[in-house]
Parts: sequence; C-alpha cells; structure tokens
Amino acid sequence: MEVVHTIPELRAAVARARQAGKAIGFVPTMGCLHEGHLSLIRRAREEAAFVVVSIFVNPTQFGPNEDFAKYPRTFAEDRAGCEAAGADLIFAPTAADFYPTGASTWVDVEGISAKLCGEFRPGHFRGVATVVAMLFNAAQADVAVFGRKDLQQLAVIRRMVRDLHMPVRIIAHETVREPNGVAMSSRNRYLSTEELSQATAIPAALTAAQALARSGVTDAARLQATAQAVLAAQPALKPQYCAIVDLETMAPVTSTAGRPCAIAIACHLGATRLIDNADL
Ligand code: PAF
Repeated sequence: MEVVHTIPELRAAVARARQAGKAIGFVPTMGCLHEGHLSLIRRAREEAAFVVVSIFVNPTQFGPNEDFAKYPRTFAEDRAGCEAAGADLIFAPTAADFYPTGASTWVDVEGISAKLCGEFRPGHFRGVATVVAMLFNAAQADVAVFGRKDLQQLAVIRRMVRDLHMPVRIIAHETVREPNGVAMSSRNRYLSTEELSQATAIPAALTAAQALARSGVTDAARLQATAQAVLAAQPALKPQYCAIVDLETMAPVTSTAGRPCAIAIACHLGATRLIDNADL
C-alpha cells in the first residue's frame, strides 16, 4: 500500500491503476479509523480493484468552537487499518497544500444543508461538500463509499453529485455498531465508560420508533414522541433534535406513508455530540 501527500502523486497512481484496467474506489475519511471506516474500505474493495482512502481532518467543516484542534490524529494506526482492510493507497494531504492560498470557492448544497445538524453547525455541510468535491476531483474515482451513520452528509453528497453531474457512484454502507448498539464514531473515544453505556438510549430510541413504524404507524408525531420518551428517560443525554425526515431532502414530515423516511437524532452527552439514525 502506497501513501501519498500531493494531488499530482495521487493522480499519477490513479492513472496507473486505470491503465491497468482497474476501477477506482474511494473512501474519504478524517482518520481516527474504527471498524465502521474499515467496513467502508472493505466495501469499496468489493466494488473496485483499486481503493483510495483519504485521511484529512478538514478544517472548513468545523465551527469555531468545535473540536478541530483536539480531533484525534492517529496516522500510524490508521495506516495499518487501511492496509489490513485492503486499501491500495492513502492520500493524506496537509491543509496548507490541499486548500490553495486564498481559496474562495465553496460548494453549498442549499436546503438539505440547512436542516437538522445544519441548524446547529452553521457552515458544516458547506465545508463537507466543498472538501468532498475537491477530493472527488483529486481522486477521480468511479465509486465512493459513505457511512449511513452520517445520513444528512450522505444526502448532501448525493445531491451535490446529482446537481453537478459528477461521474462518481455513491454507495451508502450500513452503520457499524459497538457491541452495546451505540453507532461507531471517532468521537466515541471522548466518552467515559459510563457515558458509553448512557449513550445506548440513542439506539434504543431509534429501535422504539422503528418498531412502532413496523407495526403500521405512519404518524410522525407519534413516532417522534415514542423516541423522545426513551431519550428523556436518560437524563445525561441532552437532545438537540429527534426528527422524522424524508430520506432524500431531510425535511421533516408529518407522515411516513408513501415515501422513504428516517428518524434522525443528535444529542449531547457531556462534552460529546453524538448522532444516529434509522430507516422507518
Ligand atoms: O465523514 C467524514 O469523515 C467527513 O465529513 C468527510 C466525508 C471525510 C469529509 O471531510
């Protein structure tokens, strides 16, 4: 497995793979890889003969009071994980190299970006869409794999790819969970053992709403109230939102009848913000 730091090196490696007749798979990450990321890499491996993983803690998607500075950087472990999961190349640029001096171009996916997390993290999805567009341009992949855990991010990326006619197929991969059901996240390492156990109320709330939906209930207010009651029973959790949304637009719905919907939750637990979701 190769590690490169610049776009010309990345493009040269991708061109060689293409010349050898290989399709290019891509998994963008911010490092601090866990089993969830490794499953994305393995999925990319199933889809493409040459797999690129980017490791880049993107400054433009963090707000001024967020955890950019303390976001865990674990390159040695990440490198070993990528290799074991079957990646062919890691692209790990520096922010100074990746964003040209004076960069002033943004990709803003309006509407979808403003809802849910967008309300609490202004500018976050603009930073995500911009860096993913830049990474797609750099890697020129045929297929890119994203985790379902970041449901709104996935919707933003899908819309960007559609609207800008980007020649990359987006694959959504299922959320990988801790043994206690909490969705895997790089930020889980901020949680104490007690908090990790308290966080189980989040998947429990999702499961409760999902069970009700599967019993035939389509009224979004009822589904939401059921999940909220489970969250409220765990006072350590401070919910930011618990919403029943249209899967494509992320807009809140009053009924789940006749269209793909999901329940999406964001909560603070101590100093950590956790998100999770489930199909309804
Ligand atoms: O999901 C992430 O880790 C990031 O938002 C991404 C897609 C790598 C962009 O920085």
